[in-house]
Amino acid sequence: MADLGELPMQRLASGYAELDRVLGGGLVPGSLVLVGGDPGIGKSTLLLQSATAMGRERSVLYVSAEESAQQVKLRWQRLQGCGADLQLLAETDLELVLEELEALKPDVAIIDSIQALHDANLTSAPGSVAQVRECAASLQRLAKRQNTALVLVGHVTKEGVLAGPKVLEHLVDAVLTFEGDRFASHRLLRAVKNRYGATHELGVFEMRGQGLEEVGNPSELFLSGDQASGVATIVACEGTRPLVVDLQALVSTTSYASPRRTATGIAVNRLHQILAVLEKHMGLPLSRYDCYLAVAGGLDVEEPAADLGVAAAVVASYRDLTLPAGTVLLGELGLGGQLRAVPQLELRLQEAARLGFRRAVVPQASGMSAAAAALGLELLEASRITEALVMALGDGLVSQDEAG
Ligand code: TYD
Ligand code: MG
Repeated sequence: MADLGELPMQRLASGYAELDRVLGGGLVPGSLVLVGGDPGIGKSTLLLQSATAMGRERSVLYVSAEESAQQVKLRWQRLQGCGADLQLLAETDLELVLEELEALKPDVAIIDSIQALHDANLTSAPGSVAQVRECAASLQRLAKRQNTALVLVGHVTKEGVLAGPKVLEHLVDAVLTFEGDRFASHRLLRAVKNRYGATHELGVFEMRGQGLEEVGNPSELFLSGDQASGVATIVACEGTRPLVVDLQALVSTTSYASPRRTATGIAVNRLHQILAVLEKHMGLPLSRYDCYLAVAGGLDVEEPAADLGVAAAVVASYRDLTLPAGTVLLGELGLGGQLRAVPQLELRLQEAARLGFRRAVVPQASGMSAAAAALGLELLEASRITEALVMALGDGLVSQDEAG
């Protein structure tokens, strides 16, 4: 019996390795991909650049429903896209878009955005749930029939993704989200759903004057370079991609009845739990301190493998200690204060070594001695939180008295 999963699947390279990575190897003909993200984050820029790159090899239709042809052309010139063979259509009427799609039968069609299209046969307003759903379904039927890879842009609205990506998630083959901090230049692209690839792969771009540029070595983005108290370095894994990331904590005496806990890039409940473990098992009176925690570069780190790094950052700030340079910390923290193994440890150690880190504090019985030695990493194995932190921060940690 033929295994469907093993049939070779044709993929169209998007022109950007970072985008291909998130797609699972490129666009699949006849598939429907939704790219969501806040307005202004760079969706149009990304897709126009990709369309331009693909236009050099195959037929691509770019439908701009939000900006005039003139606006898109200006942007395109800025992106130095001239010379590529790109069909541009500035149109909001679904009927006319379908006609063009059918006439051109392009390999790839990009609709920017699905919310700006409208079907004149429907009475509801453009951007409404019914319109978005109907327009997407009609486009998909045609695209599937003629094997066009279809990419839809969808805005995420502040009011809770109203008529945007959520409405379409079940219909499309893949949902990519483009995100980033308005105040920082890098942008992260992830797959939150992908029928043709793994989810949680991460693509990294940087917004420059000439558009988006790929960041092949994103770890450099997430290292603050600070050698300050309260900074700890971890290696997070986004899909199969290891990222060396700095965490920074600030612990200060509270002036509130209940202390403040704020976390950026890490779930605040996780922080609560780690603080409770430190209080209980190391005797630190953290309930009398405010605690702020931030992940450098605006990355979201969801995995428990970051626990030990969070704990180290908190304790270092509390003690006003600086972690020795070149040290990464990896480990999940159990409620009993024990350290638990983290997945993909070798991959993480390799990335740390690649970036010049020299020491890694990891959970006991990691089985990594040989691998670490080959990488030139000093491996420090610990079974409990206190042990790990003494290894990382030194004796200054235990020599002070806890009376305070
Ligand atoms: P855009 O792609 O229009 O966002 P979206 O389609 O998601 O709404 O990107 C808009 C922002 O990107 C805008 O604030 C200007 C900035 N930008 C650059 O910084 N450099 C560039 O080369 C381009 C084209 C845009
Ligand atoms: Mg746009």
